[in-house]
Amino acid sequence: MKEKQLTVSFRSCQWDELTPEQQQLVSIAKKQTENSYCPYSHFHVGAAVRLANGEIVKGCNQENAAYPSGLCAERSALFAAGASYPDSAVECLAIACFTQGHFTAEPQSPCGACRQVMIETEHRYGNKMQVLLYGDNEIYIFDSAAEMLPLMFVSENLKG
Ligand code: THU
Repeated sequence: MKEKQLTVSFRSCQWDELTPEQQQLVSIAKKQTENSYCPYSHFHVGAAVRLANGEIVKGCNQENAAYPSGLCAERSALFAAGASYPDSAVECLAIACFTQGHFTAEPQSPCGACRQVMIETEHRYGNKMQVLLYGDNEIYIFDSAAEMLPLMFVSENLKG
């Protein structure tokens, strides 16, 4: 038996270390938390994606009384981008979470289903997607969504 290890690479930074473009996208994600429909969890998640064609597409979580029918902020933004601009790669995704009257102090990780969709998006366009996770104390930067999902399942896996 062999032990194997996987490493995940990301950076932590402060607001003033972000580029103006990154700050703009994170600000939009933060603003989007105001549009979140989350009467059940009261956990407001905002997302924004920047596309290769320069467009910015917004998302936020959409809950439902039948809980599994709801959708996370990240997927709402990525699916909206795919619906409106199917030919444009996604270059950057920013996410912010607001609950109990404030933005979370620490960055919050996207759920597994959203990571899977982020991976599909990278593969679809053959383009790395930077991911910015906002927290009041620090901001995480992943240069590729792939860093967030080691041992990912992609279309090549279907070939066996
Ligand atoms: N949520 C997101 O929008 N993104 C995630 O990656 C994790 C969770 C939402 C779903 C639900 O509306 C609320 O946060 C609580 O789970």
